[in-house]
Amino acid sequence: MAMLSTSLSAAGSKSAATLYSPPNFSGLRRSSCPKLDNPSSNSLHLFDSRLRLPSLSARRPCRAVVAMAGTGKFFVGGNWKCNGTKESITKLVSDLNDAKLESDVDVVVAPPFVYIDQVKSSLTDRIEISAQNSWVSKGGAFTGEISVEQLKDIGAKWVILGHSERRHVIGEDDQFIGKKAAYALNEGLGVIACIGELLEDREAGKTFDVCFTQLKAYADAVPSWDNIVIAYEPVWAIGTGKVASPQQAQEVHAALRDWLKKNVSDEVASKTRIIYGGSVNGGNCAELAKEEDIDGFLVGGASLKGPEFATIVNAVTSKKVAA
Ligand code: PGA
Repeated sequence: MAMLSTSLSAAGSKSAATLYSPPNFSGLRRSSCPKLDNPSSNSLHLFDSRLRLPSLSARRPCRAVVAMAGTGKFFVGGNWKCNGTKESITKLVSDLNDAKLESDVDVVVAPPFVYIDQVKSSLTDRIEISAQNSWVSKGGAFTGEISVEQLKDIGAKWVILGHSERRHVIGEDDQFIGKKAAYALNEGLGVIACIGELLEDREAGKTFDVCFTQLKAYADAVPSWDNIVIAYEPVWAIGTGKVASPQQAQEVHAALRDWLKKNVSDEVASKTRIIYGGSVNGGNCAELAKEEDIDGFLVGGASLKGPEFATIVNAVTSKKVAA
């Protein structure tokens, strides 16, 4: 697995964002377990109840526990993009229906529009449906577009917006994407709000600048953060096989959470899921999932294989206890 090692703080712009260094949070963070190793300690109450401690009764030595920095449930989305046929999607749905999925994960798949109905009527209700795009306002004379109202009518619960392929191939800009997100949220769809830097941005030390600017465009437009999942997807990692290292992803996720804390609220920073996307697969998901601020994944290529997608969903188990 290739990994890009370019430093976030590579030489380049000397903006505030470039000089930004993620804070050390207290609270829900990686914790060693001295209390369990030292039975005389009575300080177990110091752990937040959301930390998932190994069973005390098992009396296994506890080496480390990894908690989620956010309070939201692990979230895994499969972005099928412009792939599939009636036949291949029938097989994929059947594999997903047969898969054993951990219960404490929100699981969503995003088929191409034309197959949403087929998937909705054949896929287990355990998995929700997302669209890959939606129109910016009420439907009408907009040739080739699909409205939020139509998506809801057909049973979709989510929509992916701001994906890099729509930003950089189709040419959607931050403000247009923000408006789309606001419209979808106002109408009751959940939004998987994608952001992420190009390779040239990263190499110029502009990763935080770009991600914060894209995030701000959502923040300026949306009515509330109740139904938003942020997907951090470095563009250089999408479909390239060059996954971000767990440390690279964690660094940006922590910075995004801190941005939300400073610019929106503590509550939103804590409850908003920040998921990672870009060449996630069955082999690298467990290590990525262990990072505190990685609350799930948005998966492209590997979501087209049912068993591998299930492995990625079940990576939540490596988040619970890393020992
Ligand atoms: P990938 O795509 O997993 O194929 O890199 C991710 C995405 O575009 O959401």
